[in-house]
Order: sequence, then structure tokens, then C-alpha cells
Amino acid sequence: MADKKKLFVKTYGCQMNVYDSERMTEALGGQGYETTPNPEDADMILLNTCHIREKAAEKIYSELGRFKPLKVENPELKFAVAGCVAQAEGEEIIRRQPMVDLVVGPQSYHKLPAMAKSVEDGNTAIDTDFPLEDKFEHLNKRPKAARAPSAFLTVQEGCDKFCAFCVVPYTRGAEVSRPSARVLDEAKQLVDQGVREITLLGQNVNAYHGHPGGLSGLIWALAEIDGLARIRFTTSHPNDMDDALIDAHGTCDKLMPYLHLPVQSGSDKILKAMARKHTAAQYIEIIERLRQKRPDLLLSGDFIVGFPGETEEDFQDTMSLVRAVGYGQAYSFKYSARPGTPAAEKATVDDATATDRLHRLQALLSEQQQAAQKAMVGRETTVLFEKPGRDPGQWVGKSEHLQAVHVPTDKAGKGDLVRVRITTARTNSLQGEFLEIVR
Ligand code: SAH
Ligand code: SF4
Ligand code: F3S
Repeated sequence: MADKKKLFVKTYGCQMNVYDSERMTEALGGQGYETTPNPEDADMILLNTCHIREKAAEKIYSELGRFKPLKVENPELKFAVAGCVAQAEGEEIIRRQPMVDLVVGPQSYHKLPAMAKSVEDGNTAIDTDFPLEDKFEHLNKRPKAARAPSAFLTVQEGCDKFCAFCVVPYTRGAEVSRPSARVLDEAKQLVDQGVREITLLGQNVNAYHGHPGGLSGLIWALAEIDGLARIRFTTSHPNDMDDALIDAHGTCDKLMPYLHLPVQSGSDKILKAMARKHTAAQYIEIIERLRQKRPDLLLSGDFIVGFPGETEEDFQDTMSLVRAVGYGQAYSFKYSARPGTPAAEKATVDDATATDRLHRLQALLSEQQQAAQKAMVGRETTVLFEKPGRDPGQWVGKSEHLQAVHVPTDKAGKGDLVRVRITTARTNSLQGEFLEIVR
């Protein structure tokens, strides 16, 4: 048998890209590629890119520049750019960096094997179409290999919300839901391979409509799968949190008590300018209804500071909302103007002011995160063991609330769902003591 060709993959951006990178790797596996952790050994370097903020997009060009000496050493080395920068910039990427051989947008990954073949024959290949088919259907079936206990599963892609600052509706296209029969098949296949926890992914996952009853309908169908212990989903939009999904947080045992529900700002004026189509009070009401169903729900969010027109008073409204909600986890960003989005036309807040606001917001959010970590001490939770810890004799996994937990034990191993008592809270992780294996 001929030697396998070596593929080096680097993934940027959201979990959707992590899932896509896996599927692209599997697809190229059918073309005789196996992955390598070393770019120096690679026959092909694939960058799966993110366009969400200017820095993320520019990073790709500096990364390509850093890889350039490898091409001098090995003229046969091929460069492929996938993901949202590929979709947004298309052949412009090859104009800026002629060493790139292949540019493929997120909706065209099923064409990747044929494109790779064409590139090996010395051509360049570009595809940024938005076909109407389920791209995952046309990719290779997932191989039978044993998998990590926790897996991502994309169920919905694209977004019709068109928030004024965001590139996603342009890079990922209109909202498309995968039919639930395919999702359930893939989930069963994952569980057969040892997966115990599935995180359903979508840019706007709670707009999922591939199953009667929408996302909560799908969650209940997944909950029927024996051997699947935990279900999560991300990312959600407040306007798509319907009653049935809120109820499921109180009634579905397999649905974990963690919710990422971005709000972006606490100012109604800014929310309106962002085209989020809800108010701060409506968001807080949703959180209150969720907490009635599931009092220990851990909330996570996304925030943008320095959106065009944001005054100190608007920013204080964001700080007040954060105090009212109490987040256990959060991501916050300085506004970045993205070409082609409506907000990019507007005058920006000066950078020093935006930076100062970001620091103040992050200080508050990290105080809240620390409080949430400390509140776990003395409590019992389940932990899904994922990998050995750095210290010998330790296992690391996630709590129900998605916190990393280190547990010293030799009584359980990878893939076990373990009942643990939390003993210590550190900045980014918890320490727990082994009680028993649950399942
Ligand atoms: N679909 C998800 C999030 C997609 S992008 C949602 O609606 O919440 C992830 C996060 O990046 C966003 O929630 C937002 O906080 C941030 N983001 C998106 N565009 C941005 C921009 N132009 N500048 C700064 N942050 C941005
Ligand atoms: Fe972007 Fe808004 Fe869609 Fe989220 S809901 S992906 S922020 S346009
Ligand atoms: Fe980035 Fe595209 Fe995800 S822009 S955040 S990789 S959808």
C-alpha cells in the first residue's frame, strides 16, 4: 500500500468549526490522508478559519506567512483554506497569498475530496457555493474508531437574524436544519462508538425546525437513546427560547443545567441598533422563567462593548443586566466593524473608551465566575471522565454545569459518569472527591 499522505489541520473560531474540521478530516481520510500534529511533516495544511472579528480574519494571513518556509522546503506542499474567511473572501485569499491552492466555503465541504484531487494534479480549486443539499450526507460516514466520551453534532447551520454587527448570515448563509432522522442516526452511531454526551450545535440552534416541536422535540427524541447520558446545545438566541424548550430544562434529566444565551448589551437603545429584536427586560424575564424550572441553571453569555453609539449610560445598563442575571461563565468582546454589515457604516466609539469598558465588564464577569466556582464547594455533581489529568492518578471531566473537574481516583476511567463531591475551587477548574460510578 502506498504511504499515507499527511494532513495538518488548524481550527479557529466556534465549535461549529471544530465539528467541521473533524468531518473534513474524515472526508480526506477517504482520499488517503491521515492527520499529523506537525506541520513540518504535512503534504497538505488545512486552515479552518473564522471571520467574526477583524483580528480573527487577519490572523489567517499571518499564519500563512509563518508556514511559507515549509513550502520552500517542500514545493509539493498544498495549502487549503476553509471556513468563514474562505466564504467571505473567496479568491481574494489566493490574490493576497498565491501559495494557497484550495479555498472552500463551509457549505461545500462535501466537494473537498474532489477538490483535493484536483489540487494534487496541480490546479487551484475554489468553491464558495451555497448548495441546497445536506453537505454532511455527502461526506464519508463517520469511521468506527472509538471516540472521546463527549462529541459535537451540528444540527442547524446559518442564521436569518442579521444582527447589525455580524458576518455569520453572510458566511454561513440562511438557516438550514438537518432532518431529525439523520441527526438521530448520527447520534446513535456516536453512542455506539462510546460517546456519552452530545452537544447539539447551530449558529442559532434553538431555531432548529427539523423535528416536530423544534429543538425540544429533538432533545426528547435523543433522550430515548440508551447509553447517551447527557445532552447540551449551543448557541441560542433569546427570541427562539420557546415554552417547550424552557420546560425541558425542568423535566428532561439528560439535559444539562447550563445555557449559553447571548444578550450582547443591556441597553435597549443599543439592542435596537444591533437589531436584536428584544429588550433587556424581555431577556431577564426568559432567564427568570428558566430558573423557575431549573433553579441551579448556570448561565453563560456573550457581550459586545463599544458598539457604535454606546454611551457610558448604555454601558452601565449592560453592567446592571450582568448584576441582575449573575453569569457563571461569559465571553465579552470589543466591537469590531465587519465589512458589509450595516453597523460598519456607523461612527465607532474611540478605542481607549471601548478598551476601558471591556476591562470593567470583564472584571465583573470574572468576579461572578469565581463566585459560581466557589458555590460548588461541598456540593455533589456528576462528572463525565474525559482524560487523565496532568498529575498521575487523576481524571479530568466536566461537571453538569460544564466546569472542568479534577478527580484523584483509580476506581473509574475514561467514559465513566461519576458522582463526585466538590472539595476545592480554583480559578478555572474544580477539584472533587470520588463517590461512586453512576452508570
Ligand atoms: N449565533 C450566536 C453567536 C455568533 S458569534 C449568537 O447569536 O449569539 C459569537 C459572538 O461573537 C457573538 O455572540 C458576539 O458577542 C460576538 N461578535 C459577533 N460579531 C462581532 C463583531 N462584529 N464584533 C465583536 N464581537 C462580535
Ligand atoms: Fe450573528 Fe445575530 Fe445570527 Fe448570532 S443571531 S449568528 S449574532 S446574526
Ligand atoms: Fe467564526 Fe464562522 Fe464560527 S465567523 S464564529 S467560524 S460561524
